[in-house]
Amino acid sequence: MPSQKPAREPTVASQERQTVSRQRVADHGEVYTAQREVTAMLDLVDQETMRIESRFLEPACGKGNFLTAILERKLGVVQLRYGKNQLEYERNAVLGVSSLYGIDILEDNVATCRERLFEVFEQQYTSLFKATTTDDCRNAVRYILERNIIWGDALTLKTVGETPQPIVFAEWSPVNGSMLKRRDFTFGELLDQAEMREMPLFSDLGEDVFIPKPAKEYPLTHFLKVADA
Ligand SMILES: C[S@@+](CC[C@H](N)C(=O)[O-])C[C@H]1O[C@@H](n2cnc3c(N)ncnc32)[C@H](O)[C@@H]1O
Repeated sequence: MPSQKPAREPTVASQERQTVSRQRVADHGEVYTAQREVTAMLDLVDQETMRIESRFLEPACGKGNFLTAILERKLGVVQLRYGKNQLEYERNAVLGVSSLYGIDILEDNVATCRERLFEVFEQQYTSLFKATTTDDCRNAVRYILERNIIWGDALTLKTVGETPQPIVFAEWSPVNGSMLKRRDFTFGELLDQAEMREMPLFSDLGEDVFIPKPAKEYPLTHFLKVADA
């Protein structure tokens, strides 16, 4: 199938101020990547950024300069393919959102990152489907972003806050069209096991791969009801 390249216009991904304060640069190395570099780096993995379900984790995601740009590319493809069919659009837009993961140690960055990702979705969704858009779909996107963009420390592999807990990622897999399967994996265990076994997570070459065990599995849920489950 020929690759479909959506037109790319910088939207809410463009937040060109690269620092907040000297203190934060000193404490957390907080210097955001500029749009031009984000674009150039993502162009190196162009095919993957256009694959709706291709998973990305950014372990120090800041305000989401990379993640929002990836979501714009994915949703560009979703619009091209499914922009005339609301249910198909919603399924695939939710799938694209659910494929993005981020961690940041600063709470305000996490909140901004989630909000920016939501806005990328919201702008396109509303402009395509206007009065027929639903809060069920918005709630599903917001719920998934709450789970996937984590306030945590990528070095200790724990959440930040009053009672730090091991970071857990939810894997979202579409089943039979509109159903979603959620399985949770502990980030530390994923890293430990992959390292210990020295096995790849994925391989097209027929070699043994590491198949991680979920910490928790959830019943199948309709993708628009994921926030109610
Ligand atoms: C250089 S900025 C890059 C932000 C983003 N990746 C970008 O390119 O725009 C580094 C980010 O890492 C975060 N950070 C620093 N130490 C961290 C840690 N141990 N775990 C998670 N995030 C951390 C900071 O809060 C900051 O947002």
